[in-house]
Order: sequence, then structure tokens, then C-alpha cells
Amino acid sequence: MILVSLAASIVVSKATTNYSDYVDLFIGTEGTVPGTSYNGGNVFPGASMPFGAVKIGIDTTEFNSSTDANAGYTPDGNVTSISLLHESGTGGAPKYGVVSQMPLTTLQNVNLLDNMTYAQPRVGHDSAGVGWYSTKLASGVVIRMAACMHTGIVEYTFPDKGEKHVLVDVSHYLPTQDDHLASQFYSNGRVELTKEGYRGWGTWRGGWNQGPDYTVYFCAVFDQSATGRLFRGPYTDPYWANFTGASPTYVNGSSVQGGVAGSQFADRVGAIFEFPGNASMVKSKVGVSWISEDRACEFLGEIKSWDLNETITKTKEVWEDDVLSKIQVKGEKNTTRLTMFYTALYHTALLPSNRTGESPYWDDGGGYVDDIYTIWDTFRCWFSLTLLINRPIATDLVQTVISVWRHERFMPDGRSGNYNGRVQGGSNADNVLADAYVKHLPGINWTAAYQAALTDAEVVPYNNFDPTDLTGSTKEGRGALPDWLKYGFVTPAYARSVSRTVEYSLNDFAVAQLAAGLDRHPGVAQKYLERAAGWQRIWNRNVTSLGYSGFLAPTWPNGSVQANSPNGTYDPGTCGGCEWDAIAYEALPWEYSWTVPFDMRTLISLIGGANATEARLDTMFVPGLRTGTVGSGGINGIGTTLFNPGNEPSFATPFLYNYLPGRQWKSVLRSRQTVDLYYNTGPSGLPGNSDAGAVDSWLVWNMLGLYPVVTQPVYLILAPWFDDITMNIGDGKTIHITAKGLDVANGSIFVQSLKVNGVGWKKSWLTHDELVKGNATLEFVLGVNQTGWDIGDIPPSPGHVQLKL
Ligand SMILES: *[C@@H]1O[C@H](CO)[C@@H](O)[C@H](O)[C@H]1NC(C)=O
Ligand SMILES: *[C@@H]1O[C@H](CO)[C@@H](O)[C@H](O)[C@H]1NC(C)=O
Ligand SMILES: *[C@@H]1O[C@H](CO)[C@@H](O)[C@H](O)[C@H]1NC(C)=O
Ligand SMILES: *[C@@H]1O[C@H](CO)[C@@H](O)[C@H](O)[C@H]1NC(C)=O
Ligand SMILES: *[C@@H]1O[C@H](CO)[C@@H](O)[C@H](O)[C@H]1NC(C)=O
Ligand SMILES: *[C@@H]1O[C@H](CO)[C@@H](O)[C@H](O)[C@H]1NC(C)=O
Ligand SMILES: *[C@@H]1O[C@H](CO)[C@@H](O)[C@H](O)[C@H]1NC(C)=O
Ligand SMILES: *[C@@H]1O[C@H](CO)[C@@H](O)[C@H](O)[C@H]1NC(C)=O
Ligand SMILES: *[C@@H]1O[C@H](CO)[C@@H](O)[C@H](O)[C@H]1NC(C)=O
Ligand SMILES: *[C@@H]1O[C@H](CO)[C@@H](O)[C@H](O)[C@H]1NC(C)=O
Ligand SMILES: *[C@@H]1O[C@H](CO)[C@@H](O)[C@H](O)[C@H]1NC(C)=O
Ligand SMILES: *[C@@H]1O[C@H](CO)[C@@H](O)[C@H](O)[C@H]1NC(C)=O
Repeated sequence: MILVSLAASIVVSKATTNYSDYVDLFIGTEGTVPGTSYNGGNVFPGASMPFGAVKIGIDTTEFNSSTDANAGYTPDGNVTSISLLHESGTGGAPKYGVVSQMPLTTLQNVNLLDNMTYAQPRVGHDSAGVGWYSTKLASGVVIRMAACMHTGIVEYTFPDKGEKHVLVDVSHYLPTQDDHLASQFYSNGRVELTKEGYRGWGTWRGGWNQGPDYTVYFCAVFDQSATGRLFRGPYTDPYWANFTGASPTYVNGSSVQGGVAGSQFADRVGAIFEFPGNASMVKSKVGVSWISEDRACEFLGEIKSWDLNETITKTKEVWEDDVLSKIQVKGEKNTTRLTMFYTALYHTALLPSNRTGESPYWDDGGGYVDDIYTIWDTFRCWFSLTLLINRPIATDLVQTVISVWRHERFMPDGRSGNYNGRVQGGSNADNVLADAYVKHLPGINWTAAYQAALTDAEVVPYNNFDPTDLTGSTKEGRGALPDWLKYGFVTPAYARSVSRTVEYSLNDFAVAQLAAGLDRHPGVAQKYLERAAGWQRIWNRNVTSLGYSGFLAPTWPNGSVQANSPNGTYDPGTCGGCEWDAIAYEALPWEYSWTVPFDMRTLISLIGGANATEARLDTMFVPGLRTGTVGSGGINGIGTTLFNPGNEPSFATPFLYNYLPGRQWKSVLRSRQTVDLYYNTGPSGLPGNSDAGAVDSWLVWNMLGLYPVVTQPVYLILAPWFDDITMNIGDGKTIHITAKGLDVANGSIFVQSLKVNGVGWKKSWLTHDELVKGNATLEFVLGVNQTGWDIGDIPPSPGHVQLKL
């Protein structure tokens, strides 16, 4: 079936677009310390289809013990394996790095159970392009790899002299250096030698979402015959040090299994294949399934040819057709900007992983995705972009969260290895459902969607007693729901009370959006709108900071505020470590004070009107005002402004000037400043983790000159970075964005006038229907003047409820 869909896309693609040339797979792979991944984007630079179930790439060691190789790759580490499953752009402890091979040129001084005895430094810089990856090991082996949906193909060119082996270590996975609570572990495995290669399964557990055992089946063939030997060795996790003396025992027969099915402490198992001396090039195809070995073998049919170039060409065509050509930029000469744009667009289509037909526990017949990692990151603007330009995967995601609710009682916020976890703030799948609902996404059972959102709103999830936050569930749902239901806000009896209060507010607004169209009782939508005003209950006029009064504050039921300074006062400019146990998660209360998009009207009035709001917004961008850390030992905070360009809670803040009449030009200014300062085409060209493409989707929106207001059918208007952009949004519809007068070098970037669908426009926003009506046009005239052209109605506040407190 895969072959059919590939063939189909080849036919359509005759076209001719070559946007792949602008994709640089190494953007976002390094961090602030050059040559290392420390504090980097953690982007996956290997070979993958769009939303590929298989992402084939290298796994490496790390020098810096405070960072992990989340996507396998680090610029500085040594290669321990080529493996088929990876995440992209995630932080915390890694998941996957499983189903592996490793080419060896000798077995002398090699202990197959000890990766440090065969790990290889690399020679020169790795190279990669859309659909392929290549590296040269110190041993002289050159490796190239390519991928189809469920199958990878890898080519080893061995040096003329020396032996030629391929190691299959089933017990290989990506380790974590410091987050032991979320470490992965090997559980069990099996390998069987076949005529053309091998097949089997591995079982692993753990990873950032603290998941239980997950099993992946594999089936591999080589392009020539080899002598395969099986081995086993003692279980070594997590006390590798105690077993350094352990060595493998070779096993006779055609298969080896670590232990009885279900054992979590089974023997390590693997196979070592030896190729004849005259075979300088060895190729292997590896299929992967979450259902069975037989399916994994069937998936090998996705890649017919042994010529990697054929797979690369096909995969590239799918990227052009399904992703890159969805937004066509014409006439731009600046390749830096094109590279930033198309690489970001590429990054938005790596996660989630498309596992349609591959859900091991149930199959509702619709789409199924895994590696939802996490909605806390992606609900803010990734989902709205995907909904607009890649409706099939947006549909799969919505169907998946509803199916997960149906079969496992709660929708996920994060999910990988088919297991829900973890929840950083609110139950943000609610926001995704509302966004899809108000934008009329077809093919969804909205009755079920609404019930799933009501479950988040009304049912307290079982407390999984995550040691990072013992106060409530971090697996799914709203762990602090008891307070929310009792007081209308979250008290400091629960961790992250400030950030969860604002996030639950938005979640309940999302429920209200669904209820307004789906509940037969009109009072229900109003009930959730009133609950959505809960953030106002912790808005404290007496709290001052940097000369401003009125902030979100951690508030006890009796109205007293929890201090967070040694002198017994509360400072909204700090949240301690901003971790799971803090008052606010990975962002300052200063930042979270802006995150009520459904009722900006009340926020502006609490702050003291448009002018006071403008001044306070300006303060967000003054360098040097952020002194506290914002999570993950500080690596989540980029720059020194209160606005943090590197993490999601601050995403919408630069554009809130659109809510102040005549100030839209300042949103354009902030957008430009942020992109110019924090994004580039270097390997550290992203501000922090890509977060499953969330950060990249933010860049795409900025360059398009629009920004979505999530859970509402509304887009804020910025100013485009290109003079001619055509978005293909499906059903033969397009959005054509033009910019006359754009001249960045001379500061000609501000809107002078705008026509939307041919009509003169004075509003700083437009609706979804206006954007998707079919062949929509946005005609900008840009200039150097910071013109207050936006004197029409300000963007709506559909959740407006002002509590009398
Ligand atoms: C190397 O193998 C040991 C033993 O299985 C494991 O503890 C360690 O995490 C591995 N290192 C890497 C970088 O994969
Ligand atoms: C990589 O291997 C080289 C040579 O064996 C060694 O010097 C270096 O420390 C290793 N680096 C890492 C990060 O493991
Ligand atoms: C393994 O070794 C580590 C450090 O050498 C030690 O702390 C640990 O207790 C040992 N564990 C076992 C099971 O022997
Ligand atoms: C595959 O493509 C590469 C890069 O374009 C080229 O160097 C190589 O010769 C091609 N291989 C075959 C077998 O066509
Ligand atoms: C190209 O774009 C980059 C990024 O915006 C900018 O820094 C650079 O100055 C531009 N180059 C030219 C020649 O305009
Ligand atoms: C997801 O995978 C299924 C099965 O392989 C395929 O039919 C579908 O087109 C894929 N969806 C996307 C958005 O790539
Ligand atoms: C939609 O979901 C509801 C609630 O789970 C269920 O009762 C109904 O049968 C579903 N409808 C369809 C067409 O599947
Ligand atoms: C603010 O301070 C005034 C005067 O001390 C007090 O009456 C009021 O209750 C305080 N408000 C809050 C929200 O703490
Ligand atoms: C208390 O300490 C905070 C920061 O630690 C400081 O900003 C504030 O001014 C202090 N307040 C008083 C009343 O001393
Ligand atoms: C707001 O500021 C503008 C100048 O930026 C001024 O003209 C206007 O009077 C101010 N409005 C209020 C209510 O202070
Ligand atoms: C959009 O434009 C295309 C090409 O100009 C045209 O074929 C199509 O009919 C138009 N669609 C609508 C809805 O106007
Ligand atoms: C820009 O604004 C200034 C002052 O308002 C005005 O003198 C000038 O003509 C404007 N320039 C353009 C190109 O509109």
C-alpha cells in the first residue's frame, strides 16, 4: 500500500519544485557551546519521510555530562550505532535510539557488550540532505542511509583492507546522562537468523514520558550473503560498571531470546554478521513494525531497489509534494532567508510519527500518530500551521487523541511508545480540539471530541506520584483539578499553581468553544466561559515589579500570596528553578501574565488600558531584566529579556501590540528583532530545543507575516518576509500573500496599507474564513514609516468575562 501512495505522488510531482535545496539538516543540531549539542535544538538530522514512522540516523556519545543526545546525533560524540527510531527537537531524557546496526572492521579488542570498545570518532563533517545522511568513521567505513515510511536502507563502504562486520545489538538505546528517573532501559529481545539477514524484536522501557515496556519488531536483509553468529550476555542496566568484565557468549542455533516473554531483566542479545573480504560495499534494508515481525518484513517491500539514490529521490519527492511546496516563495534571492524558511518548514513535519495501522493495542480505523512530544509545545502555533497546510496529519492527530481517550480514558498531552505522559501544564489537547473545531476540520467525531474534553475538565486523573511532582498526575489530564473545581484557581498546594491556573483557564475556554456548538444546553458554554476567567482570581493588584502593579500570583484560598523571596515577598520575575515543583513551569509569572488570548480585553483593563499595556509589553523586550533561571538548569532561557524567545509560553507576546489600536507596527518590529537576534542558518540557528517543530513553526508564521490565535478562528497580521508567497491549503485553494515595497536593508518592513481579498483593511487581524475562502489574497504595501494603519476593531476577546473580585 505504501508503494501505491509513493507511485501516486511521483505522478503528481512531475513538478519541479526544488525547495529541498534550501533545507539544511544541521540547523538546530548544535547549542550555545560551538561544536556541542549542549543547549541546542536537538533536531534530528537523519533520513525520514514527512512524519516518518522510521527516522534513521546515527547515535553518539556525548562529552558534556549535562546534555543528552535526544535525537541520537551530537556534533562531537562518537558513533555507537545507526538506529531507526528517533524523536526530533525534544528535551529531557531521550526516547528510542532503538533497532540498531553498527559496522566494525575488526573484532580484536572489541567486547560486543561494551559499546566503548567499538565506538567510532568521525572523520570530517557529516553530510545530509532531504532523505539521506552520510558519515565517515575513523575506522574508514563510509555510511550512507535513506528512509521510506517504515523501512530504512543503509550502505556501508568498508576500507579495502580489513574485516567487514555488521553488529546488531538489540540492547542498544539512547541513554541519559543525568535524568535517571526518566532513563530508558533494555528489557528483553530476540533475534533469529534468516536466509537473507535477521528478524526479531526488542523491548525497552522508560524515556522522558516514563513509559512502561514497548516492543518494536524488526526484519532486515543484506544485499549479499554473510555468516551470522548469535550472542547473549548478562543484563547490565543500570550498573554497567559492575559488568565491565562481562563478555558475550556465542550461541549455536538459529535464534536467541533474552528471557521469557515479559521479562524486564532479560539477557542482552544480538548478532554479528561477517562479510567476505572482497565485499567492499554492504547494504541492508531494515523494516520496523509495532505489530509483528511479519509486518516488519512486509514493509521491506517499500524499498524495492538496492540503489539508495532511488529511495532518496522518492522520499525527496514526497517532501516536495506533501510539505515544502505547500508554501511557495517566489522571486526571493536571499538564500539565507530561504534556507531559514524551508528548513523550518521541514522541521515542522518530522513529528509526530505517522503510525497509522501500527497501533498495537487497538485500531479505530482512522489515522494514528505517536510521538506527540508534546502538545504543551505544539498547541500554540504548530497545530494551526499544520491544520492549514497539512490537513491529513492534523486529522490523524485529532483522531489519535480522541482514540486514546476512548481506549485509555484520557487524551495525551505528551505520548510516545504508545503511552501517555507527561503533562507539564494544562490538558492542552483541549486547545487542539477547539482549534480544529472552530476551523471546521472534517472527518472528526465531534461528539467524542467534546466528551474527551469534558473528561479533562471534570475527571481528576489518578495521581501517578511522579517524584518530580507528587501533588497530582503528570501522566494525563489535569492533576490540579480538585483545586480548580473547588476554588476556581490552583493554589500552591499543587506545584506549578500559577502556570496551571492560566493554562486551565485557556483549556476551559477551549471546552466552552466546543460546548457552544456541541452541547444541547446553552448554559454549559457559559459555565466554562466563567471557569475560564479563573486566572483573574490570582491576578493580584498589590503585587508590583519593575514599577508595574498587578500580576498573577501564587494564591492561597484565603487570598494570601505565597512568598518566593527570602524577605517574605513575592516576585513575579522569578520562579526559582521553574521546574515541575515550582510555582510556574519553564517561564516567569511575568511571561504567563500575557497568556490569556481569549480575554485580552480584561487583561488590558486590569493592566490599566492600552498605553499602560504598551509600556508593559515594551518592558518585556528590555535586555537584562531577566535575572532568574527558567527551567532545565537555565538552558530553557535564551537571551536576557523577560520575553524568552526560546520557550513556548512567550511565543505570542511579541504580537500582542495588535490588540492596541495603531500599534501593529510594534509587533512587526518585535517579530523582526526576535528572528534577527535568535534565528540563523548556522547549526545553532534555533533558540533552544526545536520542541517537535514548535519553535520552527513559530518562525514560519513570522516569515509569512501572520500569527494564529489558538482556539479561535483568528490570525493576527504581521508583515511578510517575502514579496510573493503562495500557500496551497488543499481542495485547490490558495492564499496569495504579496508585499510591495519590502526592502529589509533600508528598513522598509512596516505595513503602510493592506488589502484582504481585494478590500482595504484597517484591522490588525482576520478570520479563518477570510483566509481560507479560496484563492484568498493579502496585498501588503510596506514602507519605512511606523504607520498606525490599524485603526479598525481590535482582535476579539470571545472569552470576555470580567469577574467582580
Ligand atoms: C554503552 O553501553 C552501556 C552498557 O549497555 C550503556 O550503559 C551506555 O549507556 C551505552 N552508551 C551509549 C552512549 O550508548
Ligand atoms: C571519542 O573517541 C576518541 C578516540 O577513541 C576519544 O578520545 C574521545 O574521548 C571520545 N569521545 C567521546 C565523547 O566519547
Ligand atoms: C554496582 O557498582 C556501583 C558503582 O561501582 C555500586 O554503587 C552499586 O552498588 C553496584 N551494584 C550492584 C548491583 O552490585
Ligand atoms: C547516487 O548519487 C550520488 C550523489 O548524487 C552519486 O555520487 C552516486 O554516483 C549515485 N549512485 C548511483 C549508484 O547512481
Ligand atoms: C539575507 O538575509 C539575512 C537574514 O535575514 C540577512 O542577515 C542578510 O543581510 C541578507 N543579505 C542580503 C544581501 O540582503
Ligand atoms: C500516514 O501513513 C499512512 C500509512 O502508511 C499513509 O497512508 C498516510 O498517507 C500517511 N499520512 C501522512 C500525512 O503522511
Ligand atoms: C462518535 O463518538 C460517540 C461517542 O463516543 C459514539 O457514541 C458514536 O458512535 C461515534 N460516532 C461514530 C459515527 O463513530
Ligand atoms: C491589596 O492590599 C489592600 C490594602 O492592604 C488590601 O485591602 C487588599 O485585600 C489587597 N488585595 C489583594 C488581592 O491582596
Ligand atoms: C524583597 O526581595 C526581592 C528580591 O529578592 C526584591 O525585589 C524586593 O525589593 C524586596 N522587598 C523588600 C520589601 O525588601
Ligand atoms: C496614550 O498615548 C498616546 C501617545 O502615545 C496619547 O496621545 C494618548 O493621549 C494616551 N492615552 C491615554 C488614555 O493616556
Ligand atoms: C483559484 O485560482 C485557480 C487558478 O487561478 C482557479 O483555477 C480556481 O478556480 C480558483 N479557485 C477559486 C475558489 O476561486
Ligand atoms: C513618513 O512619515 C513622515 C512623518 O510622518 C512623513 O513626513 C513622510 O512623508 C512619510 N513617508 C512616507 C514614505 O510615507
